[in-house]
Amino acid sequence: MLVTSKELLLDAQKHGYAVGAFNTNNLEITHAIIRAAEAKRAPVLVQLSAGALKYAGVEFLPMIVAKAAQLASVPVAIHLDHGPSFEVVMSALRAGFTSIMRDASKLPYEENVGEVRKVVEACHAVGVPVEAEIGRIGGAEEHVVVTDREALMSDPDECVRFVEDGGFDFLAVAIGNAHGFYKGEPKLDFERLGAIRQKVSIPLVLHGASGIPDAQITRAVESGICKINIDTEVRNAFIRSIQSFTEAHPDEIDPRKVFGPGIQAMQAVVEQKIEIFRSAGRA
Ligand code: G3H
Ligand code: ZN
Repeated sequence: MLVTSKELLLDAQKHGYAVGAFNTNNLEITHAIIRAAEAKRAPVLVQLSAGALKYAGVEFLPMIVAKAAQLASVPVAIHLDHGPSFEVVMSALRAGFTSIMRDASKLPYEENVGEVRKVVEACHAVGVPVEAEIGRIGGAEEHVVVTDREALMSDPDECVRFVEDGGFDFLAVAIGNAHGFYKGEPKLDFERLGAIRQKVSIPLVLHGASGIPDAQITRAVESGICKINIDTEVRNAFIRSIQSFTEAHPDEIDPRKVFGPGIQAMQAVVEQKIEIFRSAGRA
């Protein structure tokens, strides 16, 4: 069933688990995510970036995801991931999204707040919750020295101000997490996360969770993270599966036969993440 993310994240916060938010670009990934959620009886967010909307068509992909969500036997929210502008947010609302992230974290503080407030006003008017980000979640950059890394992380006191000034529903934090595969061993700053959790009462979101060791994910969930974003590991499973299938069957040209094992490979990754996030059985 199609729901908003607010009900999912508030329940997660109340019961100490995290809802998985998995990125999709097409029908196959969408099937894998929702089949995994159904198999594990877990609530889930299917999220689309502006890049995914551009690739698959803002008229098409949200319709596929919305239909899959409506037919699903578990609660599913459709989330705009890293919404880059007011215009993209508006097109997502028109397309039926039930959850929005406005990411203006690259802008100076006051501009970030201004952009977020604009979106909050519009989204809340139609009952759609909003995620915003403060600090910078980088790419996996080994050369970034520790002091620079810390300067990019979310400051607990600034988080408090940001939540009050922005009026949004969920806060994405930068605590040493990064998008894409990590080059070294990721080390989340749990002291910082604890300080943010103590001062901020709305649900917290962890981006860039692909490649973070399970023990750190568990600790993040125990420290109050309620939504965890995964993209890279699912993509990796899909493409590696297609590569090995086509190597083994070079003459196969039926896309259903090539993509089928890919869907299963992605579903296995999503199911495993759902277990670690402790959202299995929560639907
Ligand atoms: O917003 C999307 C995520 O933060 C995914 O990050 O590709 O590192 O899993 P990831
Ligand atoms: Zn992200």
